Amino acid sequence: MALQRLTALLILYSILGYIPSRGVILRTTDKTVWANEFEPIELTCLIESISTNNPRIEWKKIKNGVPSYVYFQNQISGDLEHRAQLIQPANLLILNTSRADTAEYRCEVAAIDDHKHFDEILISLAVRVKPVVPRCSVPVAVTVGTSSELRCLENEGFPASQYRWFRNNEELPQDPKSSPKFINSTYSINADTGGLKFRRMRKEDAGEYFCQAKNEAGHAQCPAQLMDVYDVDIVGIFLKVLAALAGFTIVMVGVYHAHKHGCFSSGKDHTGTNYKSPAADDGVEYAEADEGHFRHKSSFII
Ligand SMILES: *[C@@H]1O[C@H](CO)[C@@H](O)[C@H](O)[C@H]1NC(C)=O
Ligand SMILES: *[C@@H]1O[C@H](CO)[C@@H](O)[C@H](O)[C@H]1NC(C)=O
Repeated sequence: MALQRLTALLILYSILGYIPSRGVILRTTDKTVWANEFEPIELTCLIESISTNNPRIEWKKIKNGVPSYVYFQNQISGDLEHRAQLIQPANLLILNTSRADTAEYRCEVAAIDDHKHFDEILISLAVRVKPVVPRCSVPVAVTVGTSSELRCLENEGFPASQYRWFRNNEELPQDPKSSPKFINSTYSINADTGGLKFRRMRKEDAGEYFCQAKNEAGHAQCPAQLMDVYDVDIVGIFLKVLAALAGFTIVMVGVYHAHKHGCFSSGKDHTGTNYKSPAADDGVEYAEADEGHFRHKSSFII
C-alpha cells in the first residue's frame, strides 16, 4: 500500500518536474486582492515546501510604508484583532473588512531548521467602498438659450464613483446624438466629475433630474429635483424696464419738488440777521436765536 502510494507520488513528482527541497517556499493565489467593505476576504499564503513541522508564521500590514503586526506569536493583533483569524496553513481570513484595511500585507514564514529558512510573500488588498448619496445641484429655473451646469458629487466611494444622470426617470445617454429622443439637446456628461452641462437650454430640457453615483461596490442616488426652463419674455422685460424707469422718474420729480419746497420753508423760518448758512456736512443746522438759545431744525439731505 505504502509502496504503491510512494511510487505514485514519485511518478507525480517526475511529471511535474518537482524536486522535494528542504527550504521554505510560499505561494499565493492572488497578489492583488479586491474585497467589498463589511464582507469577508481571505488572503492566501500557501506553504509549497517546508520540512519543519512548526514554522513561525507572521503577518504584517504595511500602510504608507509603515509596517505593523497583524499576526504575531500565534495571535491576531493590531487593528484586525477580533476581526480576523489564521486559517491553515497560513492564510489570513478577515471576517469583516473595513476601508482602513486597504494596505499591503506580508506573510512571513520562518523555519529555522530548513536549508532555506525564510520566505515571504506580499499581497496588496484594496477594499471597495459603496458610494454614499451624492450631493446634487439642479437649478430651479433657467432661461431658454442660456448655458447651465448641473452637478453631482460624493466622496466616499472607492474606487471613485462614475456618474449617470436621469431626467423623468429616464437615463440621459452619454452622447445626446446617439438617441433620436435627445438628438436636439446640447448637453454633455462628464462621468468622472458628475457634471451635466447644457450649452443652450431648450424648453424640452425641463424636467425632474437626479444623478446616480456608482462603482463596483454599489450605487446611490440623490432625490429628483425639478428644473424649469423659461422663455425669454421680451415684451415682459420691456414693460418691466419701462415701469422701473417711470417709477424712477416719479421719485426724482418728487425729490426735486420736495427739495425746492424744503429750501423755501427753511428760508421762511429765518428772518432777521441771525440766519446762518446751513451746515453742509450733517444736514442739521443750528441757528442762534436772539435770546442766545440754540434752535434745532432739520433740513433735507439729498
Ligand atoms: C462589520 O463592521 C461594521 C462596523 O465596522 C458593523 O457595523 C457591522 O455590523 C459588521 N458586520 C458584521 C457581519 O460583523
Ligand atoms: C430636432 O430638431 C429637428 C429640426 O429642428 C426637428 O425636425 C425634430 O423634430 C427635433 N427632434 C426632437 C426629438 O425634438
